[in-house]
Amino acid sequence: MTTLTHLECSLCHEHHDASIPQNLCDCGGPLLARYDLDKVRESWNREWIPNGPSSMWRYAPVLPVRNPAAVISLGEGMTPLVKTHRLGEKLGLPKLWIKDEGVNPTGSFKARGLSCAISMCAELGVKKIAIPSAGNAAGAAAAYAAAAGIEAHIFMPRDVPQANYIECKATGAHVTLVNGLISDCGRIVNERKTSEGWFEVSTLKEPYRIEGKKTMGYELAEQMRWTLPDVIFYPCGGGVGLIGMWKAFEEMETLGWIGSKRPKMIAVQVEGCQPIVRAFEQGAERSVFFENAQTVASGLRVPKPLGDFLVLEAVRKSGGTAIAVTDREMLDAGIELAELEGMFAAPEGGACVAALRQLLANGFLKSDESIVIYNTGSGIKYLEAYSTRFARLDDSEYDKLGGLITPR
Ligand SMILES: Cc1ncc(COP(=O)(O)O)c(C=O)c1O
Ligand SMILES: [Zn+2]
Repeated sequence: MTTLTHLECSLCHEHHDASIPQNLCDCGGPLLARYDLDKVRESWNREWIPNGPSSMWRYAPVLPVRNPAAVISLGEGMTPLVKTHRLGEKLGLPKLWIKDEGVNPTGSFKARGLSCAISMCAELGVKKIAIPSAGNAAGAAAAYAAAAGIEAHIFMPRDVPQANYIECKATGAHVTLVNGLISDCGRIVNERKTSEGWFEVSTLKEPYRIEGKKTMGYELAEQMRWTLPDVIFYPCGGGVGLIGMWKAFEEMETLGWIGSKRPKMIAVQVEGCQPIVRAFEQGAERSVFFENAQTVASGLRVPKPLGDFLVLEAVRKSGGTAIAVTDREMLDAGIELAELEGMFAAPEGGACVAALRQLLANGFLKSDESIVIYNTGSGIKYLEAYSTRFARLDDSEYDKLGGLITPR
């Protein structure tokens, strides 16, 4: 099954043992899973992939789980790559696709990362996990932990979307709502994890969520018949999906499955929380903590991504850029996407559509380029945000209407 060999520190490159649960390297660097890609090249053919499961686990040789019985799957991955018609036409883009991650279990792409991370917890005998989350990762962690029979301790901001709170409670997690942001949640987990015996599955503080998310890159190449688009739009919070896809492209090139051409990676953020955009514009290698982060796109409310240097490196090497949009533009674009394509996207997906429009207007992108937008979640998880645009009349209003037409 897997060809996992070891973990490598992304900062100091020291090797670490993958047969025990691991968090960060001693130097503070996130650990990345490494595989025997020569063996993969000799023993696996990309033409065989469709014979595998209809989930991200079809890429098992480049995923870390050793024992197939440890895989905790709810059917994550193999999401549709939808060719746009009406939106593409409106924007003058004949080659515009949307990778719809909203149809994943738990309604977001976080399912991929947590399926992989929780499977590794199951394989390595972890009994209790803790996770600080902006919202959707919590829902996914709770669901996969439930399926694995692992105790989940969730810490998220008090004002997360209701869907995230309810899904965690419904799947039996221990939920703490924190007055603060994901960074405050992370601090609490860090302080308590040793005394509580929790294994921490924070973004990039364990090595396998990124492995699940990298399957977005494998899948895209498979769906595009082993080519890649010219441009990828990605809504960037912690940036793990972007880093993961970048890693997948590198692995696939080593396997001889794709060439050296890379898409321009566009990291999309929001005005109220844009640490990556600021760092990109300043030519900095790392971001600075973004004070008073605020946005209804809860997944993008990450004031200081741990893997900022990896995101910035990928964006720069790809010839891409980082761009911020306002909450208003994001919701407008989310509704436009729903109206034109029938896809009710998370605000994070809407942010990418808004960013696309800006980069066409300023000439950064050309209309003949092939473009893929990642819609990372379902709009159904963000009813509070969208309900500001579609307020319902309350009962007394309905009564009044009824009274006019058919008096009771
Ligand atoms: C819907 C959605 N989109 C995007 C993100 C950002 O993900 P990443 O950490 O990969 O940047 C999140 C994170 O919570 C999310 O929930
Ligand atoms: Zn290190």
